[in-house]
Amino acid sequence: MNKDTFRSFFPILSKEIEGKKLIYFDSACTYLKNKVSFKWEKDYYMNFSCCSWDREPTYLWSLLYEKITNTRNKTLDFIWASKDDIIIFTSSATDSINRLIFSLDEAKIKTLVVSDLEHNSNYLPQKELSKLKNIKFKMFSYKDIINLDVLEKKLKNLKWDFLLSFTHSSNVIWWNFDIRKISDVVHKYGGYLLVDDTQYITYRKENAVMNEIDFLVFSSHKLWGPTGLWILYINNKVKELVKYSSKVWWWTIQKIKDDWIVMYKPLPDFLEWWVQNFMWILWFNEVLRFLIKTNMSNITNHVLSLTKYFLNKFYCLNLWKYLRVVSYEESSLVTLQWNNWFNVIDFLQYCNYFIPNYFVAFRTWTFCSDVFINKYLNWDKNLMRISFWIYNTRGEIDIFFNILLDYIKKIWKI
Ligand SMILES: Cc1ncc(COP(=O)(O)O)c(C=O)c1O
Repeated sequence: MNKDTFRSFFPILSKEIEGKKLIYFDSACTYLKNKVSFKWEKDYYMNFSCCSWDREPTYLWSLLYEKITNTRNKTLDFIWASKDDIIIFTSSATDSINRLIFSLDEAKIKTLVVSDLEHNSNYLPQKELSKLKNIKFKMFSYKDIINLDVLEKKLKNLKWDFLLSFTHSSNVIWWNFDIRKISDVVHKYGGYLLVDDTQYITYRKENAVMNEIDFLVFSSHKLWGPTGLWILYINNKVKELVKYSSKVWWWTIQKIKDDWIVMYKPLPDFLEWWVQNFMWILWFNEVLRFLIKTNMSNITNHVLSLTKYFLNKFYCLNLWKYLRVVSYEESSLVTLQWNNWFNVIDFLQYCNYFIPNYFVAFRTWTFCSDVFINKYLNWDKNLMRISFWIYNTRGEIDIFFNILLDYIKKIWKI
């Protein structure tokens, strides 16, 4: 398929916004949707719309149930997990982390450890829920986690069984951390590992078995699937850690016997809404079909070549005087920080409202990993992030640099 045909699958790229073409550099936030996926909305309501099984054990539900089970299995294949492992469909990162932490057995996990690199949606629920569940909360510097000797020392000193959360790649600096080595150390000291794969999985192959991951979260909407659908993976070996808690009420029940004995459904249903948005799950099935067929390495290569191209251009143009790169190579994103005390919203406005032919979308202002940004980058007001996916091109990067140079000339009058 040629590049233009491929881009035509994304309707928003061929549309004009206020007479301008869109250049979308914010996939790290959410991915543009392709038109093949849109048909699922119609398909679901026309062909499957029905209630769930023990309420309505119809033929219609059996067809739908088969598709949902198929999506769970495809998700397990996609992350190279074992077929006995568990996939829970949730509605956001925060929701996944909330459900997991609420249902963790406090008798077995007595400390929650997060890195200072975590996204707010992972860090905050853990910090707040640790108070509610009366378990300890600790934050480790990500530098101490990737330095395995330091990690060993820190974990050795932890008196209680723990769950350590770590992002496989950050949405600010990115970095391809060696999760397998971290999981070895975590397991050596009797802990469990929760991996935030949200950014990583968008263009890298995850291997949950090889990396010995206990819990994992990622999003469908950062894989061109629907917004509102998230995935919580639970390794079958640790499913005993997930229990009912009386502190919240979302567990799906099987039955209430004799008015007070409540029986809960087993996983995955136990942690899911029983009549949920099945349409999104069907749509996600289609996304997985595409991704499994496509071969992730093609996506990885395309995205990495764009990052390399962007950085080469940045270095060749000698823009260090104005901006510095704070992310690493080998990434799907480039985070830049303006050297001057400069409000980047001004540049975003320029890209959105003042240039004649294009409307360039990229990330500024808030990066949602506040602990990391406050600690290592001072503040996020002068940060901007350009992120790539398969629909982006070198031509778009060229246009971005032309706009950037033009802006610098205007502002600094050079
Ligand atoms: C690493 C990481 N984790 C979690 C999230 C939260 O995702 P969402 O806002 O879709 O819930 C994001 C969003 O950008 C992210 O980059």
